[in-house]
Amino acid sequence: MTLPVLQERPRIEEDPLDLMEEIDALKREKDATILAHFYVDGEIQDIADFTGDSLKLARDATRVTTSTIVFAGVHFMGESAKIMNPQKRVLIPDLLAGCSLADSCPPEQLAAFQQQLRAMGRDFHTVAYINTSAAVKSLVDWIVTSGNAQEIIGRVPKDKEILFVPDQHLGRYLMEVTGRKMILWPGACMVHEVFSIQDLIRIKRSHPGSVVMSHPECPQNILEISDVIGGTEKMRQHVMKLQTPTTFLVATEASMIHPLQKAAPQHTYIPVPGIMSASGETCACNRCPHMARNTLQKIRDCLRDGRPEIEWKDYFSKAREVLDRSLLQ
Ligand code: 13P
Ligand code: SF4
Repeated sequence: MTLPVLQERPRIEEDPLDLMEEIDALKREKDATILAHFYVDGEIQDIADFTGDSLKLARDATRVTTSTIVFAGVHFMGESAKIMNPQKRVLIPDLLAGCSLADSCPPEQLAAFQQQLRAMGRDFHTVAYINTSAAVKSLVDWIVTSGNAQEIIGRVPKDKEILFVPDQHLGRYLMEVTGRKMILWPGACMVHEVFSIQDLIRIKRSHPGSVVMSHPECPQNILEISDVIGGTEKMRQHVMKLQTPTTFLVATEASMIHPLQKAAPQHTYIPVPGIMSASGETCACNRCPHMARNTLQKIRDCLRDGRPEIEWKDYFSKAREVLDRSLLQ
C-alpha cells in the first residue's frame, strides 16, 4: 500500500506527565479506548486500556464499548480494528506507521500469482499473516497471527496446498512445526531480519545459562540457536511461568522488554542487537521505525482532532469474513 507523504512539523517536547493527564481527560471527553501493541514505547503501553500481541488486540477491539478506538501500532492493525468494528471511529496516531512485511506483498502481485497458480491447475488455500493490508486480507482464505498460526494451519484441508504470505521466515518455521509443505512468499520484517548471529553467539557466551528467546519472524540461523520460539504473548507467558531469576536474550523488537519486565521483573532481559547489512556494523535497528512513529503527543493530537482516521473501504467486507473465521471462531 502506498501511504501519503505528509510534511512533518518539528515538534516541541512536552512533559510526558502533562500529556498523559491530557490524554486521560480527552479519552473521557471523546468516548475513546486506547489499544497499544507491545512494540510501541513503554510509556504508551502504560496509558493504554488494552495492550497485547496482534491476536489479543484484534480480539480486544471487538470488546470495546466506546464509540472511538485509538490504535497505537501500525496501519494494518488499525485497519483490522476498523474491519471488526465498522460502526466505530478508528484513529491511528500516524498514518505513515506502515510495515515492511505488509508492504512486501502488494495485493495486485498476490492476485496475479494466485491466478498463475490456478492456471497451472494447483489446488491451494492462501494463508496470510495478519501483517498484511486489508486489500490482501480480502484475497485470502485464512489469516494467522504468531499466536494462532499452528491451530489455523491445522484447519486447512489436508488435500489443499498452502500458499503462505508474506513472511518467508515465519512460513518456513510453520512448515517445520506443522509438517505441511507451503509455497512461500519472499517477504520479511525489516526488524527481525537484521539480528546479528555473531553478536547473539557472543552475548550468549558471555552470559552462561542465558536463554535465547526469539520471534518466529527471525531467519532460520537465529531460530536454530534459540531456546524459546514464539510470538510476543508467548514470550510474556513463558517468562511469567519461570520463578528462578534468569537472563533472557530477546530477539524481537526492543520495546518488548517493557512488558516482559513488567510481567516478570525477577529476570534480566538483554535485547539482541541488529546488524547493518551494508557495513556489517551493529546498530539499534531492533526498534521498528514504524512502531516508533507512535508518540504521546500524536496520541493526544489524534484524540483532540479526531484524525487521522481509518476510512471504510468496499473490500473490508470480504476481509471481515476471513478475519472473523480465523480469529474469532
Ligand atoms: P505479535 O505481537 O503478534 O507476535 O506480532 C509481532 C509483530 O511483528 C507485529 O508487527
Ligand atoms: Fe512490520 Fe516488522 Fe515493524 Fe512488525 S516489527 S510492524 S512486522 S516492520
